[in-house]
Amino acid sequence: MDRIIIRGGRRLSGTVPISGAKNAALTLLPCALLTDGRLTLSNLPRLADVDSFGHLLNGLGVSTTIAGAKAAGGIDRAMTLQAEAIVSTLAPYDIVRKMRASILVLGPLLARAGEATVSLPGGCAIGNRPIDLHLKALEALGAEIELAAGYVKAVAPRGGLRGGRVTFPIVSVGATENVLMAAVLAAGETLIENAAREPEISDLCRCLVAMGAEIEGIGTESLLVQGKAALHGADYRVMPDRIEAGSYACAAAITGGDLLLEGARAEDMGAIIAGLVEAGLTVTDEAGGLRVAADGPIRALSLSTAPFPAFPTDMQAQFMAMLALADGASVLTETIFENRYMHVPELTRMGADIEVRGRTAIVRGVKGLVGAPVMATDLRASMSLVLAGLAATGETEVLRIYHLDRGYERLEEKLSAVGADIERDSDG
Ligand code: EPZ
Repeated sequence: MDRIIIRGGRRLSGTVPISGAKNAALTLLPCALLTDGRLTLSNLPRLADVDSFGHLLNGLGVSTTIAGAKAAGGIDRAMTLQAEAIVSTLAPYDIVRKMRASILVLGPLLARAGEATVSLPGGCAIGNRPIDLHLKALEALGAEIELAAGYVKAVAPRGGLRGGRVTFPIVSVGATENVLMAAVLAAGETLIENAAREPEISDLCRCLVAMGAEIEGIGTESLLVQGKAALHGADYRVMPDRIEAGSYACAAAITGGDLLLEGARAEDMGAIIAGLVEAGLTVTDEAGGLRVAADGPIRALSLSTAPFPAFPTDMQAQFMAMLALADGASVLTETIFENRYMHVPELTRMGADIEVRGRTAIVRGVKGLVGAPVMATDLRASMSLVLAGLAATGETEVLRIYHLDRGYERLEEKLSAVGADIERDSDG
């Protein structure tokens, strides 16, 4: 079982190349199902989840070829996908249970092939993660949905999906993505209200438009789609990962360092930047990316997670690690997922002073953290443990780092390059 060993206390300084966004890539990949043309996605991150999604698509009839072209600051990996014909409409349990994002083949398969059988994803460490909003939205486009033996069986009407009106009672990134990928091939007009506005949704819309889709209101909570009979291939570049960038910004903060997050896009990170500035960091938007520098002690703050453009839930654990060393007490409220404090017991074992009361965590700053063996439980929790290890005295051993590999490309390489004493031990 791989583990990461960090010897903390070193100030980080230099440039961190930011990779393509995991949560954009995972919704762009299934777009290949919507056309028999070639879709080439560049700036594709090297992540376990991206590879798993590629295998899932292969099983449905999508050919995938990788081309890695040397680009400034790293390897810009591109994948060309082509679904000349859909050979299967089944997303099996053993794939879906390992990667929830597999549910994002449901909308495109319905739109292209008129049917789909997708395993219910089941819950994960941070919550039970229902998909009721995905299903209701697809029913609004005429799909017949049946739940049987742990699978969603969906069938489009004989003449194919037809445009409809979808009003989400709560904001859902995945449900917005699924219904968007169905609506672009549905006959007629689809209005999606209370749509998620995360930058990854806008990235999806821009890719669909590049493939010939017609979408108005991109970036707003109201999306109007005019369905097309067919889409064509396209070349599309995946947006930079705002959560990876935010995570490394916390690494600068927690080590008193100064990092240039190369390729990070400030307009995707408004609430994250506001949080960093409130915590006392200097953040400057430079030509090559975002520079984040410590400027005195970390200041305590209070924040709540909420849908974009508010502070993202995917940054809560990383901010908590940073605030564990702040001057004073911070109050964090997690409003999106019901169990996203799995990092708290592990941070506490490193000396953090954190009290969880329901959805709220009170983080009282301590003078220092002490390295310890800790267990990763989910993707962002794992990153918070790495951050704590970078600041802690002594050695921190992070176990079960397969969680990390799902969302952070070349983590130890990127951190070593800016001064961290970090190594992966694959014999552990
Ligand atoms: C996406 O998950 C991201 N994953 C998550 O990132 C992110 O935390 C989340 O959006 C919120 O921003 C990907 O993009 C692959 P939701 P998703 O549907 O789509 C409830 C990471 O660390 N809900 O916006 O699953 C749900 O339980 C991951 O990169 C329903 O009730 O999130 C949650 O409470 C973790 N019914 C809330 O809505 C549904 O049908 C928001 O979930 C769907 C969701």
